[in-house]
Amino acid sequence: MKVGILGTGDVGRALGNGFIALGHEVMMGSRTAGGEKAKAWVNEAGDKAGEGTFEDATKFGEIVVLATLGSATEAVIAQVGADNFNGKLVLDAANPLDFSTGAPQLAIVGHDSLGERVQKAVPGAHVVKCFNTVGNPLMFKPELPGGPPTMFIAGNDDGAKAKTTELLKDFGWETADIGGIDGSRYLEAMCLAWVRYGVKTGGWMHAFKLLKK
Ligand SMILES: NC(=O)c1ccc[n+]([C@@H]2O[C@H](COP(=O)([O-])OP(=O)(O)OC[C@H]3O[C@@H](n4cnc5c(N)ncnc54)[C@H](OP(=O)(O)O)[C@@H]3O)[C@@H](O)[C@H]2O)c1
Repeated sequence: MKVGILGTGDVGRALGNGFIALGHEVMMGSRTAGGEKAKAWVNEAGDKAGEGTFEDATKFGEIVVLATLGSATEAVIAQVGADNFNGKLVLDAANPLDFSTGAPQLAIVGHDSLGERVQKAVPGAHVVKCFNTVGNPLMFKPELPGGPPTMFIAGNDDGAKAKTTELLKDFGWETADIGGIDGSRYLEAMCLAWVRYGVKTGGWMHAFKLLKK
C-alpha cells in the first residue's frame, strides 16, 4: 500500500522503516520538501521511499500516519487541508505533550484529547489512535521476553480498526480495541505512564501487555 507519514522525527523514521520492510511504499512529509532529515532517510530507506511536503505525503498515502509534534498536529492538518484526508485511514501516533514545566504533562485533558480533535478536523477520514503508547525503538517487531506486547487502539470505525489490527500484527503487535476515538483521552494518558516508568527506571525498552483469560 501507499503510506504517507507526516513527520521526520524518530517516530516517522521508525514507522517508515517498518512499512518499507513490509513491502509498502512510503512518502515522508515535512514542512518543507527536500529537508536534510527527510532526504537522509530516503537515501537510507531505498527506492520504496520518497519525501515531500506534509500535503504531498497526505495526497500520496492510502494510509496517513500522524507523527508530528503534538502541539503542531492540528496546525499541520489545517495546512494540508481536511479534504486531502477524505476516505483515508489515519493512524494518529501523536501525543499532546506540554514541556513548559520541565517534565511532560498532557496539554489536553478531561473530556477531550488530541485524537478527538484530529477526528473532528478530518471528518471524511477514519482516525485510529495507535503507536502512541510505546517508544519508537519498539514500534516495529518488538522482541520482548514476555512475547508480543499489546497496542491499545481507539477509533470510531470498525473497518478502520480491523485494518489497523492487521497492520499491527505485521508490525509484531497484539491489539486491544478500547472503543471510539474518545478513548484517545486514556491512550494519551497511558503515554505518560510509559514515560514516567522510563524516567524512574532509566530504561526505555518497555511496552504494555494486556493479560486475560
Ligand atoms: N519519540 C517517540 O518515541 C514517541 C513515541 C510515541 C509517540 N510519540 C509522539 O509522536 C509524535 C512524533 O514524535 P517524534 O519524536 O518523532 O518527533 P517530534 O520532534 O515530536 O515531531 C517531529 C515532526 O513535527 C514537525 N513539527 C515540529 N514543529 C512543528 C511546527 N511548529 N509546525 C509544524 N510541524 C512541526 C516536524 O516538522 P519538520 O519535518 O518540518 O521539521 C517533524 O516532522 C509526537 O507527537 C510524539 O509525542 C513519540
